[in-house]
Amino acid sequence: MGSVSDQESEQVLLEQVLDSFDESANPRLVEVVRAAVRHLHAFVEETGLTREEWMTGIEFLTDTGKKSVDSRQEFILLSDTLGVSMLVEIVNQMATDVATDATVLGPFYVPDAPLMEMNAFIGREGDDVAPLTLAGTVRSAKGGVLEGAVIEVWQVAPNGLYDVQDAKGVFPNFRATFRTGADGTFSLRTSRPIDYQIPTDGPVGTMLKATGRDSWRAAHTHFRVSCDSYKTVVTHVFDASSPRLHSDAVFGVRESLVVDMSGPTATFDVTLDEV
Ligand code: BEZ
Ligand code: FE
Repeated sequence: MGSVSDQESEQVLLEQVLDSFDESANPRLVEVVRAAVRHLHAFVEETGLTREEWMTGIEFLTDTGKKSVDSRQEFILLSDTLGVSMLVEIVNQMATDVATDATVLGPFYVPDAPLMEMNAFIGREGDDVAPLTLAGTVRSAKGGVLEGAVIEVWQVAPNGLYDVQDAKGVFPNFRATFRTGADGTFSLRTSRPIDYQIPTDGPVGTMLKATGRDSWRAAHTHFRVSCDSYKTVVTHVFDASSPRLHSDAVFGVRESLVVDMSGPTATFDVTLDEV
């Protein structure tokens, strides 16, 4: 523990940095930056961070930036594996919401996947190794069914890779768009999703290994559901039989999103809030 004068100089330094934003014309930016500064200073004080550890952190973040390209966002993966992305989802979902719970978007969403007919198979021939129909109804928070809601789905193929990761595979694969019918229902055919590993060939993988962390995600299919005049929901439906529901690498599992996928058909109803 530092002496009284050390603590005073740390406090003086913090106040100086916080005051340095006084002239900004953007109050929200200042609020966020000041909070970040307060937490960063507290982190350095709490851990007694050494110069070497500070430099290791700088190098880690530099490597994270270098690994990030359009098709691979290592900073989002870092946010995901530290539970920050999930916290952002929870904080942004108001307590009064009756809408379907949100979870992380993940790095493998691609907009404008092909529109398919009701009940179409979203993979390629031969990939229906564990046939599963996912079906449900999209409703408004007031209870009425929503016709024409757009359902975008994506998941790993039975080889444990997303189409965008698989240099030997085809694109799109296990990725499609559907629209609900007049009764608000949708139905699609897929292969039962499996547990898979998030990318570990970058700094985030190094961090997971160094800290004894698991890199597996609980089996899921991603959903992005949108409809005019309603708030879009980005979520997953999880397989209740996955052994990783309680050790998901990105902390994305929410109780309300877990369904029984052991039969030929699994039901996943979605509720959207009005804008
Ligand atoms: C995914 O579910 O696709 C995913 C989410 C976060 C990090 C990596 C993958
Ligand atoms: Fe995923």
